[in-house]
Amino acid sequence: MCGIVGVLGDHEVAPLLVEALKRLEYRGYDSAGIATVYKSRLDRRRAVGKLVNLSDVLVHNPLPGKAGIGHTRWATHGAATEGNAHPHSCGPVTVVHNGIIENFRELREKLAAHGITPSSETDTETVAMLTAHHMAQGLQPREAVMATVAALHGAFALLFLFEGEEDLMIAARKGSPLAIGHGKGEMYVGSDAIALAPMTDQVTYLEEGDIAFVSRAGVEIIDAAHNRANRDIVRIEPGTTLIDKAGHKHFMTKEIFEQPTVVAEALGRYAPAGLPSFPDRLDFTKITRVVMVACGTGYYSCLTAKYWFEQIAGLPCEVDVASEFRYREPPVTPGTLALFVSQSGETADTLAALRYMKEKADIVAGLVNVGTSSIAREADIALAILAGVEVSVASTKAYTNQLTILALLALHAGRQRGVLTEAQCRGHVEDMKRLPDLMRQTLTLEGKIAKIAETLAPATSILFLGRGVMYPTALEAALKLKELSYIHAEAYASGELKHGPIALIDRSLPVVVFAPHDRLFEKTVSNMQEVLARHGQVTLITDAEGARAASEGTVAQLVLPAASELCAPILHALPAQLIAYHAAMAKGTDIDQPRNLAKSVTVE
Ligand code: M6R
Repeated sequence: MCGIVGVLGDHEVAPLLVEALKRLEYRGYDSAGIATVYKSRLDRRRAVGKLVNLSDVLVHNPLPGKAGIGHTRWATHGAATEGNAHPHSCGPVTVVHNGIIENFRELREKLAAHGITPSSETDTETVAMLTAHHMAQGLQPREAVMATVAALHGAFALLFLFEGEEDLMIAARKGSPLAIGHGKGEMYVGSDAIALAPMTDQVTYLEEGDIAFVSRAGVEIIDAAHNRANRDIVRIEPGTTLIDKAGHKHFMTKEIFEQPTVVAEALGRYAPAGLPSFPDRLDFTKITRVVMVACGTGYYSCLTAKYWFEQIAGLPCEVDVASEFRYREPPVTPGTLALFVSQSGETADTLAALRYMKEKADIVAGLVNVGTSSIAREADIALAILAGVEVSVASTKAYTNQLTILALLALHAGRQRGVLTEAQCRGHVEDMKRLPDLMRQTLTLEGKIAKIAETLAPATSILFLGRGVMYPTALEAALKLKELSYIHAEAYASGELKHGPIALIDRSLPVVVFAPHDRLFEKTVSNMQEVLARHGQVTLITDAEGARAASEGTVAQLVLPAASELCAPILHALPAQLIAYHAAMAKGTDIDQPRNLAKSVTVE
């Protein structure tokens, strides 16, 4: 979602701010802006759309100054207009903000009584107005920000700059992450270390409730109780902030093609000696139930894992989307492992669900790709997804690594609960170790997949079908296609077809069926026949045995290498991703940053 940067520099900051904002583009945004303080005066430039528009504005109307803040905005309150773009200013204050100020209407009403009225539709402007109001009453910037932050409800990260203060930025964190970067005679603030990577690898992460007073000499941090707080400076590993397409046209294809490597890494980490290996605290002899919570793609990896926990480990497993789970107030029984799956580790709903379970579950674990994220820090145990930085808004390699690690976790549970023998468990891990190779073979089919995708691209709606573990695969395929190509897509458990969606089938409806030759193959094929009998245009994704048995009548077949039942949903994710990618290519959409989407959804 929104991105924040700030620089107290030794040189002109406008180019640095724009460059840092570019590195935050992956989070998703629809307008951008920067502000500086120069010769004691605050000034700002803002533009709707991509950063190139802001750069154009700056070419015609440069913004001098060695102290500045910048922002990429993903619209929540008010449309993507220049007037709603950040920074928002009021009197001697300008501010950028991630998150949502829930009580902004109430604050606005109070400020109106003092004759302070907004000029934008945003919640953020209220923060600038309130701080300016406190300063008008005689408070210095530091005290004014403390008073403002204390009055705000919601989840936010804020960064302030002040008129007449060329050596001061104030940052506040409650719910949305912020990192302070340390340079030589320069200081920086960013919503993540990726933004700051070209400037520094020395970073301090703010904790919940922290307020940081940043000058070129360093940073002073106070905690939620306004006591001085010591926060460590950590060195950021270069690989974790590398943003590079490595010769690919899009980050998405680069990330799709990285999957064999990162899956191998996950297998190496979580099954180093032929058996699954997880922290001792994940003791499945004591766990009687697994509750998994996530959003979007993470939710589909959890749905897949539900089949594995139940079938392989005989362990009851419940899965929910975080936005529902958090308000469902589900009863929690003793012996519950609550597992939260999130690429970013910052998804607001998943984090709230984690906090709900924190007092109730026996163990709260996070499966996260960003080791410094809120979910990683707040969980009792954080398991790393090990996918490397994922820049494309559409998740690919994080998904297949989530699946790989969850499959190993289910095997671990099966082994510890005595449902699997050691030999059976080793056999499954052995199968999984073939995955990187099977994935490489599957990726060689890209040309064929691109052709299939081109035939699907003109459709206005596409149906995906699958059974068992292939049902979440179908759901994920539909999500990827919607996100990237904006084609309406739906997924059904193929057995559910005749209970309604079969009414949609006619000659114009493309139907993609995931059907590896597994124990449910015949059942899926029967459902596929029901589609063919009604002239549906079926693309069959299967393996050689499946293709031999069921290709008749289908318009296209994609033959993947044969894989074990545990590996099949991981392998079938690849054509699902490539179909979406190539359909989007055919339609000319913005692949790495699809419209309206954000990489990390930090608001409810
Ligand atoms: O960072 P998270 O894994 O918590 O994000 C959850 C969803 O927002 C995310 O998976 C989203 O659905 C992706 N755009 C899918 O490609």
